[in-house]
Amino acid sequence: MQHRVAVIGGDGIGPEIVREGCRVLEAAGGRYGFDLDFTEFEIGADRYLATGELLTEDDLVEIGKFRTIYFGAIGDERVKPGVLEKGILLALRFHFDQYVNLRPIKLLAGVPTPLANKGPAEIDFVVVRENTEDFYVGIGGRQTKGRQHAELEVLRSLYSVKFGLDIESDAEELAYQIGVVTREGSRRVMEYAFELAERRQKKVSSVDKANVLSDVYGLWREVFADVAAVHPSVSTEYTFVDAITMWFVKNPEWFDVVVTPNMFGDIITDLGAMIQGGLGLAPGGNINPRGTSMFEPIHGSAPKYRGQNIANPIATVWAGALLLDSLGEHEAAGGVVGAIEQTIADGVVTRDMGGAASTSDVGDHLVRLIGRRS
Ligand code: IPM
Ligand code: MN
Repeated sequence: MQHRVAVIGGDGIGPEIVREGCRVLEAAGGRYGFDLDFTEFEIGADRYLATGELLTEDDLVEIGKFRTIYFGAIGDERVKPGVLEKGILLALRFHFDQYVNLRPIKLLAGVPTPLANKGPAEIDFVVVRENTEDFYVGIGGRQTKGRQHAELEVLRSLYSVKFGLDIESDAEELAYQIGVVTREGSRRVMEYAFELAERRQKKVSSVDKANVLSDVYGLWREVFADVAAVHPSVSTEYTFVDAITMWFVKNPEWFDVVVTPNMFGDIITDLGAMIQGGLGLAPGGNINPRGTSMFEPIHGSAPKYRGQNIANPIATVWAGALLLDSLGEHEAAGGVVGAIEQTIADGVVTRDMGGAASTSDVGDHLVRLIGRRS
């Protein structure tokens, strides 16, 4: 069996961590009996600075020929924040309609957590983040003199009552950005979450802020109730996003599958990454179950560590295990996660985890462990 994988190392530490990830996946192929055929794409800050291109039509056509993308990280200090993130990472998620952002929050054996009295038995859940809607749709603007926005009709009346402002006079300035939730966009990600829960502990917690943003998250709640009704074996609960940050810290053992709108999911998964031992460990998958999916560490490009061979490759390797899972190579995926645990037990870890190993030392060790037949 051969699997073709598009590889985008990206910026900062991206290329070096993905290099280790590819080596580990290749070793897993050797051990579990499949071939991986990697095709690299030079996309990121360097090309943008040289040519002005973020993602070209050509890139999308070529990458679209793959079912799977292995992605490092994007972001560079020479480029204004948001340009690469929106123009590359979010553009890929949206273009390929990767509506599930799957982020396991699992404390591996031997990894310290900042939570007192909690261990691997207590910290083992999955966040299913909606990945194409909400405040990420990019509808918004800034009011500048002479420009007309339809949305400003609403703001005009609001602001004149509240502040006595004429928002179109050149003395005033405001910005707005709109979140969009659709029934179908919510239904499909919730369906994924419930099917996942059916294979796990059969519990789904929904995240929202329906007590304030009652239109968008009111619809989210309605859809959640509808999807729950067709999955009677799964127990459910509603949580508010502010409260769930508290419960992640206090009682992480309550959670099995957490389904969340996009932006709240972004925020709570950084917290999740911390309780599972740090950003250096946390993997993610951007999944379109019938299209092209993309696997990446949830951390960024950490430009100040670029090229020093000190970054922790574990999040990327673990993302590689999620990638194998998506290709149906479940045994190999389990083998990779097992090798990560053994590597940590052997103390071959980078400095963020208190060790002295380099990025490639960790890769070497993982490759050796996977290659060793039990
Ligand atoms: C993430 C990141 C991205 C996001 C950024 C880089 C656009 O924070 O993957 O969590 O907000 O989704
Ligand atoms: Mn994030």
